[in-house]
Amino acid sequence: MRKTVLLAAACLFTPLAIAAADEGAAAPLDWQHWQAGNEVSNTASLQRGARNFFGYCAGCHSLKYLRYSRLASDLRISPDQLKADLLPAGATPADYVKSSLAADDAVAWFGKVPPDLSLIARARGPNHVYQFLKTFYADPSTPTHSNNLALVNPAMPAVLSDLEGVKEAVFRNVEVTVDGSVTTEKRFDHFVTTVPGRLNAAQFDGFVRDTVNFLDYVGEPAQVERRSIGVWVVLFLLVFTWIALLLKKEYWKDVH
Ligand code: HEC
Repeated sequence: MRKTVLLAAACLFTPLAIAAADEGAAAPLDWQHWQAGNEVSNTASLQRGARNFFGYCAGCHSLKYLRYSRLASDLRISPDQLKADLLPAGATPADYVKSSLAADDAVAWFGKVPPDLSLIARARGPNHVYQFLKTFYADPSTPTHSNNLALVNPAMPAVLSDLEGVKEAVFRNVEVTVDGSVTTEKRFDHFVTTVPGRLNAAQFDGFVRDTVNFLDYVGEPAQVERRSIGVWVVLFLLVFTWIALLLKKEYWKDVH
């Protein structure tokens, strides 16, 4: 009996052990399949995302279709909090979220104007934005001294490196055969953190997910409201069905 159990265990675990060893050696970091996994009904996450946006992105990026007042009511931010934490000096709640960066300064510093982010999560998808924010790495050959896997040679500097730390990308040479001739290609393999940031990996991941969640909300603010209306519609239908059943019972009582 013991022998059988041992044998079964050996059969079960050997392939797993081999697979694990293999993965450590060969599997490159699968960043193209990373998912933002965001949830716009999570108001606390949206509030944190808004705080991240105003702290780290609004200096360069605008949200030109979003008014501060709308943001405050959707995210349940009180007028006092709005004034204290988010409204720039001189702005009113009815204003749209603009960046303080002047277009000609942007061109002088970055070579282009940072895009408005109102629709970025809809245009490129939340997963792309998530992958973009998580794949900056040090690259001394570019003007910003950084590069990115999701957007090669971006004009945007690695603005979150004080939080995340500085990563270096490790590439490996892969032999590929094209039309019968063998060439070597440089492929990304994994990151190595060379300077630690203020946040650990899990905290930084949460920071990025909240920020992407917020940008997803900004792309379609009505989705927050629609979801809460949806709950009431379903509740109404359930109650209505129950009343209809009671009525039917009542009517048929007389017929029988
Ligand atoms: C110092 C200015 C600056 C800051 C701060 C900044 N960005 Fe950018 N961002 C840029 C520039 C410039 C571009 C244009 C990049 C390009 O097209 O090469 C850009 C592009 C983008 C894009 C488009 C990427 C794509 O695939 O086209 C996204 C998304 C983005 N930024 C998100 C953010 C978020 C989120 C933050 C805050 C955490 C942020 N940015 C902070 C300057 C900035």
